[in-house]
Amino acid sequence: MKRILSGVQPSGNPHLGNYFGAMKNHIEMQNDYESFIFIADYHALTTVKDANKMRESTLHLILDYLALGLDPSKTVFFRQSDIAAHAELKWFFECIIHHGLLDRAHAWKDALEKGKKDPTVGLFTYPVLMAADILLYSPDLVPVGKDQKQHVEIARDIAIKFNNIFGETFKLPEAYIPEESALIKGTDGEKMSKSYGNVIEIFADEQTLKKQVMSIKTDSTALEDPKNPDSCNVFYLYKLFASNEEIHDLSEKYKSGGFGFGDAKKLLLAKILEYFAPYREKRIELEKNLDYINEVLELGAEKAKKVSGELMDQVKERIGYTKKFV
Ligand code: ADP
Ligand code: TRP
Repeated sequence: MKRILSGVQPSGNPHLGNYFGAMKNHIEMQNDYESFIFIADYHALTTVKDANKMRESTLHLILDYLALGLDPSKTVFFRQSDIAAHAELKWFFECIIHHGLLDRAHAWKDALEKGKKDPTVGLFTYPVLMAADILLYSPDLVPVGKDQKQHVEIARDIAIKFNNIFGETFKLPEAYIPEESALIKGTDGEKMSKSYGNVIEIFADEQTLKKQVMSIKTDSTALEDPKNPDSCNVFYLYKLFASNEEIHDLSEKYKSGGFGFGDAKKLLLAKILEYFAPYREKRIELEKNLDYINEVLELGAEKAKKVSGELMDQVKERIGYTKKFV
């Protein structure tokens, strides 16, 4: 059975981009792959510098994943900070790569250009930690959104370099980015992202969700005039949820005129609420049972430690950190 590994940062409330671009794929793939999914809380430290917020976002993301259907008996579900080997391997990698490899990373260049992110050394070496996350578990595929493709390529480059220097140790991973979920657009038609303030959150309360849906940008075609569904952000998001028949119906309404963007937004809101309703209920149940959450994390950490520990023993042996002198 092929193996997948992926992580999501607990740095804000998951949105439709995270769901369709990553989480939904992770959950579906657990049935056909040996799966490792983790909460990237070490990565989140590049942006979250408040202990309460870190704790809360971590718990929320765990609840979100479990509510959405991640099954800890099928997936090794763990928290990055429970496995110290991630940080340890990052150091080994830092001693074999040149900083030019990281200068070229889009995410770092973006952070510098937009001047939005705090350009710490941690943010600069973020892809090295990500390489360690990936390579410690020897996955065949890394299911992520398109924005993470380059990071997976950097992980490959690092694996090749280590293997060249110390001998074949790491399996070369490949990004898995299905076309239809590669880039989900937000309320302004750009990539949906926490940092752009254009999100629709999956578990926001109804009021917030309504506000987010109502804020979707549309053009100024008058209510009575026919509209082009294919250039409309509301129609685009509706398609993520609706059946072919529903998509066809809405498309006809757009084309015939007399149907406003406000009406389309109401339909979209109803669809989102309906789609996530069962998950919302499950999430409320899970929230009441933190003992279960703690058990899940303990089990995940145990399994992840075993797999990463075995690989780490090999890595150290290759480097010359021999356990026993003979
Ligand atoms: P954000 O950009 O909102 O900070 P993250 O970086 O935490 O999101 O992304 C977590 C996962 O969700 C990654 O695998 C990422 O590729 C995916 N993802 C985030 N936004 C989108 C999007 N708009 N479309 C597709 N995938 C996305
Ligand atoms: N950088 C990823 C993101 O922002 C999260 C992440 C960290 C990750 N480590 C990973 C994803 C390893 C896949 C594999 O979404």
